[in-house]
Amino acid sequence: MKKTMISMVLLGGIFAIALSLSAQDEATSVQSGVYSQEQAQRGEQLFGEACLVCHQPEEFADGGYMDGWSGMNVNDMVEFIRSTMPEDNPGRLKRQEYIDIVAFLFRQNGLPAGENEMVRKELKNIHIEGPYGEPGEH
Ligand code: HEC
Repeated sequence: MKKTMISMVLLGGIFAIALSLSAQDEATSVQSGVYSQEQAQRGEQLFGEACLVCHQPEEFADGGYMDGWSGMNVNDMVEFIRSTMPEDNPGRLKRQEYIDIVAFLFRQNGLPAGENEMVRKELKNIHIEGPYGEPGEH
């Protein structure tokens, strides 16, 4: 009897671990660390080169701008920016560069960084939702 209990507890533990591993695989919200610090750093650099002539990073910080995207997915946001910016030459940057800039914007809104970088094929599966906050650490 006691033995059965122990193996049931063990089995439960294994199940819980398997579940949490598979949950990490499908990062479905911007709240779950979908970009890396390094990517945001690159995005900041690109923003400085391509956007700073017309925009201050503060324009897109603290949730005011992100809030308008709540309920959409990251692909919507990347494609919108790609098709409109820089205003004098939309689509000039590489697609991955726009994704990096969006990672920087996420950091500007206090969204958590994680281990992996955002890549194009995953963007549609990443849901945009608050809460947003102050710019994260650099
Ligand atoms: C030549 C000037 C110029 C450059 C360069 C530029 N923008 Fe813009 N951007 C504008 C103007 C003008 C607007 C519209 C004004 C507004 O409503 O904020 C705008 C609006 C935006 C918006 C808000 C769009 C919305 O309504 O959601 C975002 C986001 C944005 N720009 C991002 C970028 C990024 C990222 C870059 C660099 C890749 C960039 N911009 C480069 C001029 C520029």
